[in-house]
This record gives sequence, C-alpha cells and structure tokens, in this order.
Amino acid sequence: MSTQNTHQLTITRPDDWHLHLRDGTALEAVVADTARQFARAIIMPNLKPPVTTTEQALAYRGRILAALTKAGGNADAFTPLMTLYLTDNTSSEEIFRAHESGQVYAVKLYPAGATTNSDAGVTDLLGKCAKALEALEKCGMPLLVHGEVTDPSIDVFDREAIFVDRVMKPLRRAFPALKVVFEHITTKEGAEYVRDAEGPIAATITPQHMLYNRNAIFQGGVRPHWYCLPILKRETHRLALVEAATSGSPRFFLGTDSAPHARGLKEHACGCAGCYTALHAMELYATAFDAVGKLDKLEGFASFHGPDFYGLPRNTGTLTLVRETYQIPDEVPFGNTALVPLAAGETLAWRAAV
Ligand code: NCD
Ligand code: ZN
Repeated sequence: MSTQNTHQLTITRPDDWHLHLRDGTALEAVVADTARQFARAIIMPNLKPPVTTTEQALAYRGRILAALTKAGGNADAFTPLMTLYLTDNTSSEEIFRAHESGQVYAVKLYPAGATTNSDAGVTDLLGKCAKALEALEKCGMPLLVHGEVTDPSIDVFDREAIFVDRVMKPLRRAFPALKVVFEHITTKEGAEYVRDAEGPIAATITPQHMLYNRNAIFQGGVRPHWYCLPILKRETHRLALVEAATSGSPRFFLGTDSAPHARGLKEHACGCAGCYTALHAMELYATAFDAVGKLDKLEGFASFHGPDFYGLPRNTGTLTLVRETYQIPDEVPFGNTALVPLAAGETLAWRAAV
C-alpha cells in the first residue's frame, strides 16, 4: 500500500498494551478516552496500594467497567486485561490463581523505587521471585518489565541500557521460555536487544518516545508535561525506536504508558513522572509513523503484534484515522482538577474518527 497521499487510513481496531487508569474519580475521568480508540488495554497495577492479588485485580476490573459506564462509554466494547504487581512475596499459587481467573493476562515487574508507586516492587528478582517466575513460565503468562536499574549511582539516562546487562540477560538465561515484554523501551540498546535476542521477547513503545527527544523537557525552561519514566533520551535513541516500531517486526507493539497526574502534581517542585496520551494516542502514533513515510506499518504495530504475542485473537472492528488538523486541548477535566495532555495546545495532522 502506498500511503504517501493517504487522506484516510482504516485499520483493525487497536489495543493499548500498557496503560495506567488509576482509580476513583481519576479513573472515571480517563477511562472513556482509552475505550474510544482501543478495544482492549493491559491495565497497570501500580495503584496505592498495588494490585497484588487476583481478588484485587478482579475487583479493580469491575470498577473500571463501572467507571466506563458512568462516563458514558460502552463497557461491552472495551476489555480491560488485568495484571498483578510482582512483589518479593508473590507466591506461585497466586500466579496460577491469576492465570486460571481468565481475566489476568500478565504480571508486572517494577524494580523497587524505579518509578511512580513502585515502593512495594521487587528488591532482588532472581533471589526473591524465582518461584513466581517459574509459575509464569509454566502457564505462559508474560512478565512485563519496567527495565531500569534503581542504583542511585547510575545516571538517570543510562538506567535502561544498564538494566539490559544487569537484569534482563540474567533473567532470560535463568528462564529461557518465559514470555517477557520489555515495557516502554527508550534506548537503542533496548531496541537492539529485543530485535536480536533469542526466545519469546517483545517490547512496547510509547508515542512520546517516538516523537520527542530529551530536548523537549528543557525547551525554553523546564517542561514537566514531557517528564515521564523512563525519561526521554537523546535523538539517536528516538531514531532507533522509530526504526524498531516502523520496521514491521512482530516484536514491537503499541503501549501508550498513558499515565495521568493532576496538573498541580506535574507543575510542582517535585513533579510526578507520566504523560497523558490516552486522549489522542492514535493521532500521536499516526503522526510518528507518517513522519517517516511508514503509515503502512501502523496496523501491525497497533493491532496485530500485541495480540499475537499474548496469544489472543486480533480484534474484528476497525478504527479510521483522517488526515485533518487536530488541535490538542490545553487541558481536560480530571475530577475537581485538570489534566494536561501531552503536547497540549499543539496541532497534529491526524484525527481519529471516533
Ligand atoms: C507511570 C505512572 O505514573 O504510573 N509513570 C511514568 O512516567 N511512566 C509509571 C511507569 O510506568 O513508570
Ligand atoms: Zn507505565
């Protein structure tokens, strides 16, 4: 397909394989944005307290669907794919229970202290979690990895590249059949590792890491709405991520990492990490693919590679993107406060017809 003069692009309905929905009024404010564009989403478990049991995951799933209905969305057309938060104490029984529930699709590894709400995370993966990892490997459920070392002596821009050697490689040597998703990769090292490694590995890529490099965080002053973890990297890394996402390789798929934080907590002396992209996710991705003339690769990335890796059916519906000016709103309501979407106030050349 030639997409050079494409004015409209219809793809199989996409899924978001990495999403933060929060809880309570925040959940009610954001969940319909995701459900407008995506049929399914992998729901991150980093609530306060974290979602560590199947019982908690099932209750959270119920709250998500209730919030979607309350927000005017169609709960029959959106499926939250739940996850558990791995801790030093997660038992193999809990993993099997999660798998048998039919509603929990993955387990998330946050190295303790790596990012927002990760205090309960893992302190020593192979030392403390071997039984849980064995259980995951046995039932074929993916481990979703926040791939950054937490050693404070390591430069924040190097934490992912060092994670590959210090944690990812030993993990995969110890559990070669374990399905692993290297979440929100941000570096050339991460992309090359996933492209070339043996065995069942894949990676998600966010829109912000495809569209921006680290200069965006400092353009004319500190720009907190461009701050997320893993942090934006230099241009060479952005180019490597664009190359990976648009390569057609089934190992790379869509995961927005949309992570809403109230305006006041972003524009703060110690601002929270996370970009809000659920509002305009497909517009952002279409812009990134179009910029390198690879719109023909968007459908695989957004709609095929994810379900294929997870062993789930592809969606049957469609989503249409139209080449039309779309102005990103300055803010959207967020409970009794406001939420600033990524690139607020800017215009994009694509709009999702939803
Ligand atoms: C996420 C959040 O706010 O929950 N923040 C982020 O910058 N991506 C946590 C995470 O995925 O690291
Ligand atoms: Zn995340």
